[in-house]
Amino acid sequence: MPSSTDRAIDILDPALYDDPWSTYRWLRDEAPLYRDEPNDLWVVSRHADVFEVSRRSDLWSAAQGVRPKVAADMSLIALDDPEHTRQRRLINRGFTPRRVRELTPHIRELADSIIDEVQERGEIDFVEEMAAHVPLIIISEMMGLDPETRDRMYRWSDAMMAGDGADPGGPELDAAAVAFGEFAEVCMELIPQRREQATDDIIGILTRAFDEGGLEKELKSGDPALYGDGALQDDELLMFLTLLLVAGNETTRNAISGGLLALTRFPDQRQRLLDDPGLMDLAVDEIIRWTTPVMTFMRTCTTAHEVHGQRIEVGDRILMLYQSANRDDRVFERPDDFVVDRSPNNHLAFGAGTHYCLGANLARLEVKVVFEQLLSRLGDIRAAEPGKVHRNRSTLVLGIESLPAVFTPV
Ligand code: HEM
Repeated sequence: MPSSTDRAIDILDPALYDDPWSTYRWLRDEAPLYRDEPNDLWVVSRHADVFEVSRRSDLWSAAQGVRPKVAADMSLIALDDPEHTRQRRLINRGFTPRRVRELTPHIRELADSIIDEVQERGEIDFVEEMAAHVPLIIISEMMGLDPETRDRMYRWSDAMMAGDGADPGGPELDAAAVAFGEFAEVCMELIPQRREQATDDIIGILTRAFDEGGLEKELKSGDPALYGDGALQDDELLMFLTLLLVAGNETTRNAISGGLLALTRFPDQRQRLLDDPGLMDLAVDEIIRWTTPVMTFMRTCTTAHEVHGQRIEVGDRILMLYQSANRDDRVFERPDDFVVDRSPNNHLAFGAGTHYCLGANLARLEVKVVFEQLLSRLGDIRAAEPGKVHRNRSTLVLGIESLPAVFTPV
């Protein structure tokens, strides 16, 4: 069993994720189950193993936390079944495929209005002026937050993300706690209002979402109050909204930024997409595979069993490397290349199993519409320094902070 004695890898070192590809390859080939002793983590890097850990929620729990340095927070992503499924079924009502599809013209308008503003300039910071806007505006509108709150969301979401890999007692954790406090205050004001007055936004829908048991009780009691045992409680709703704030923002932002890098580094693939826009659906999943904005999640073993011949004990923690799984040549041909019409494309960027990303269709739609508008209006937009990426120190999301881009002004 290769371990830190053969090659010491600090899997929680943010610097590793600046250029992780050769380390990932070594892990997949030489140490598919790697032991990072100082961080008290097993690490899986192959596609088959990341898939298996995700799928086997009977062996691997999320409820003891999905981040190695952060205590479990009771949000949807850190719950086990059956409680997880109970909440997820309620929450699904705010994310029906129809609701997401109906956003298409609005997302297009939004992307167009951003392009209108910058099209004469010929250069922008792609993250701040393009990639961050669409997911941020869409998720805050879906939540029913007012535009003033939306501006604060950017800061809150960044601060909470920066708290993820921070050392205990550090300033990042304080900033994350302040951001959470401010966000919680806004939500805790809105939730009772929405319980009183029905609205069609996510907070409104979820305050009125009952599981079957709750609805039955409600009907029997004849109580018109839309709040009962089967409903999401205020604290559950707050944890979910906090998850949405981060999950709905940073992920898609990085997928869009990563997409621009891909099109810049693989100009022949951009040309194929310009020649045949019908390839866009396949291209979107390839952008998401090639970028893999969520880099790692953790699970904890609940039933002792063997992985690659090694006994894993109850309580052992395991880290899944999604980027590595998505570049595994056991599954993908030429895995490091960006191939717009890659098919099949069984990437794991959205996870798998019971926690499969709730926002996958929304994320795909946002990436698709943004690149449709960009390619039809600013066809040669590209990263100005394609070899250089300014990342934050997260070990959770890719974290591209700025990406200077240039294009022919129109
Ligand atoms: C879960 C990735 C966009 C909401 C997840 C997971 C991953 C992921 C890897 C965990 C899966 C697992 O544990 O097996 C991504 C990527 C995105 C994206 C790469 C963009 C390209 C979004 C958006 C939203 C969202 C836009 C919301 C609007 C969620 C939620 C969960 C989740 C709520 C937890 C689901 C559960 O535990 O049942 N996502 N996500 N995500 N994502 Fe996303």
